[in-house]
Amino acid sequence: MHAWLCENPTGLDSVQWKELPTPQPKAGEVLIEIKAASLNFPDILIVQNKYQFKPPPPFVPGSEYAGIVAAVGEGVTHLKPGQGVACLTGTGGFATHAIAPAALCMPLPQGFPFADAAAFIMTYATSHHALLDRGQLKAGETALVLGAAGGVGTAAIQIAKVAGARVVAAASSDEKCELCKAQGADIAINYSQGNLRDAIKEATGGKGPDVIYDPVGGEFAEPAFRSIAWRGRYLVVGFAAGPIPSLPLNLPLLKGAAIVGVFWGDFSRREPKANAAMMAELAGWYAQGKIKPVIDRQMPMAELKAAYERMGSRAVKGKLVLVN
Ligand SMILES: NC(=O)c1ccc[n+]([C@@H]2O[C@H](COP(=O)([O-])OP(=O)(O)OC[C@H]3O[C@@H](n4cnc5c(N)ncnc54)[C@H](OP(=O)(O)O)[C@@H]3O)[C@@H](O)[C@H]2O)c1
Repeated sequence: MHAWLCENPTGLDSVQWKELPTPQPKAGEVLIEIKAASLNFPDILIVQNKYQFKPPPPFVPGSEYAGIVAAVGEGVTHLKPGQGVACLTGTGGFATHAIAPAALCMPLPQGFPFADAAAFIMTYATSHHALLDRGQLKAGETALVLGAAGGVGTAAIQIAKVAGARVVAAASSDEKCELCKAQGADIAINYSQGNLRDAIKEATGGKGPDVIYDPVGGEFAEPAFRSIAWRGRYLVVGFAAGPIPSLPLNLPLLKGAAIVGVFWGDFSRREPKANAAMMAELAGWYAQGKIKPVIDRQMPMAELKAAYERMGSRAVKGKLVLVN
């Protein structure tokens, strides 16, 4: 097998394409022949030693992937060689093969393309858990999605529309705004121009959004929070812009509003039944054509460094997928 190996996580250049012995699955594990792996933002943080989860080096980055079961370890009964699966294991995906715990593999229904499967779990699970569980978004309410043309952002637009909400998308270019509208956003704000508060006020008839979905942080968090509706819910999803913003605590008091943390990874571990029910609902929505990953482009696995560069420079629209 071949894999992008990171021996010392000092930056985006610290990975090397290496030939490694193909491992055999131990009890409870499966060997997967990887067909597609998607990039999530943590994949660029992990090789810079900036992510909260720090795997001991050497490690193979690549949190999420899909492929074919090549071999199963002892005790694995619900998966068999030849079966298509999607998997989110945190590492291992930027390779031709990976070992994964069988319990973390989602069997794929017939006809589920590997690129969609590799781009599905992290973004849709995060946005569903954020908007519908933590944010209690209801039909008829307005959701503002920041970084709306990114991976979790495009999933958030689609899920908020399935929930019957009005969606205001915000992104950094007119091209990204157009993509957000094509995904169902009712209004899109280009936040690299003009005053964000004025634009939100205009987009919501002065009322403000009921739910704000924020995977970006940085300089937009405070003006966005200042625009929130009475009883609004501000979802802290991530900090793609880098700095972790601070908010004066009088702001939630004045709006009767809530600042709500979202940590889908821990939710899936602490509340596995609720997570499984949520994943089943998402798979149903996919089968009904209500949601579908936006694939920015597919690139050969060998082009990981160019893919990192594309994501780091904010060029990706939706999800970038590497294929074998
Ligand atoms: N809490 C959770 O459970 C959870 C789960 C998954 C992901 N996350 C977090 O969600 C965030 C987004 O992840 P993602 O995979 O959707 O990433 P992504 O596809 O790269 O989207 C992030 C968006 O952030 C915006 N952005 C603003 N400043 C940026 C900068 N300096 N560098 C890069 N992007 C910047 C970009 O949109 P514009 O150019 O339009 O501003 C970009 O589209 C990450 O922080 C990730 O860690 C959290």
